[in-house]
Amino acid sequence: MEILDMVEFDKKEAMPNSYKERSYEELEQRVLEIKQKLGKKLYIPGHHYQKDEVINFADTTGDSLQLAQASAINKEAEWVVFCGVHFMAETADMLTDKEQKVLLPDMRAGCSMADMANINQTEIGWEKLQQMFGDTILPLTYVNSTADIKAFVGRNGGATVTSSNAKNMLKWAFKQKERILFLPDQHLGRNTAYDLGVPLNQMAVWDPITNQLEYDGNYEDVVVILWKGHCSVHEKFTVKNVEHIRETKPDMNIIVHPECPREVVAISDYAGSTKYIIDAISQAPSGSKWAIGTEMNLVKRIIDQHPDKEIVSLNPFMCPCLTMNRIDLPHLAWALESIEQGQPVNQIKVPEDVTKQAVLALNRMLENV
Ligand code: 13P
Ligand code: SF4
Repeated sequence: MEILDMVEFDKKEAMPNSYKERSYEELEQRVLEIKQKLGKKLYIPGHHYQKDEVINFADTTGDSLQLAQASAINKEAEWVVFCGVHFMAETADMLTDKEQKVLLPDMRAGCSMADMANINQTEIGWEKLQQMFGDTILPLTYVNSTADIKAFVGRNGGATVTSSNAKNMLKWAFKQKERILFLPDQHLGRNTAYDLGVPLNQMAVWDPITNQLEYDGNYEDVVVILWKGHCSVHEKFTVKNVEHIRETKPDMNIIVHPECPREVVAISDYAGSTKYIIDAISQAPSGSKWAIGTEMNLVKRIIDQHPDKEIVSLNPFMCPCLTMNRIDLPHLAWALESIEQGQPVNQIKVPEDVTKQAVLALNRMLENV
């Protein structure tokens, strides 16, 4: 692509500056008006990590699994304006009908973890692993991955997983093959396999940069191969954070997301998906104390919703997920006004051949949960 073309492309994808100059009251008013006007033709799913200014307008809020399921059953909406990150909008596009259009209010809302596995690296790694282990491996991918990776997993007999169903899906996978390649989050893979009784010394790590398997031992003992990827938000929760809470607030419960490193999960009290964290704290008795290890927009919302409980972030210096935060009220209003004006912006359209194979992986998950 010529540099000039690239500049044109960027301009087309970028929200006009005028949206930054309009007041929040006016933008909120416009979002409400368009929602009312389009009724059931418009559907806005919002992930729990979205900002309040956006989540306030969501028709459904949920974790990755809930949003995937909701997208799959919604046949009424002509427009799905996805408030989440790119891989979630791709999943929604693949699970909805052809006529339904999915928009992502800001194309820059990616996921650093999903970007840690591209299809070339995966094909190269797979070939090497096949040479080392033969036809003994089933690939599983966390939904936090590109449509291309989901398609790769689908055509190789595997499935997608979310943090809500990773345990069930790993059990399912072990019924198919003796080894699992888990992409792209090594922490979710390690935490889940460990919970199922796989010892840490039977887990190897595949480094897609060096194309090497990191493992001290006999390859025959390897049961799980973890892709060397991680979430840059959840990696910021440390053993020191847990130790600090234990010392200063010994009666505080520590609950973390399984994207946190193994050492952190191992010494916390509870670990689970965003839905699991929300439910655990909602059901906890008044006056109970909680330190939460997950994204900050969600932690702040949980704190606001439970004034009767003492709740803090496990890491006091934690920031929100920067890419989730790219979806803000101006971008939501821009996407909705573009529909109203008949010139929709930022449509997510996964190619048909990729969709066909990725849906195999998604459906194997949806049928097993
Ligand atoms: P869940 O909502 O499935 O727990 O996922 C967390 C996450 O990091 C999404 O990007
Ligand atoms: Fe990706 Fe982590 Fe942000 Fe979730 S919180 S979107 S995994 S970078």
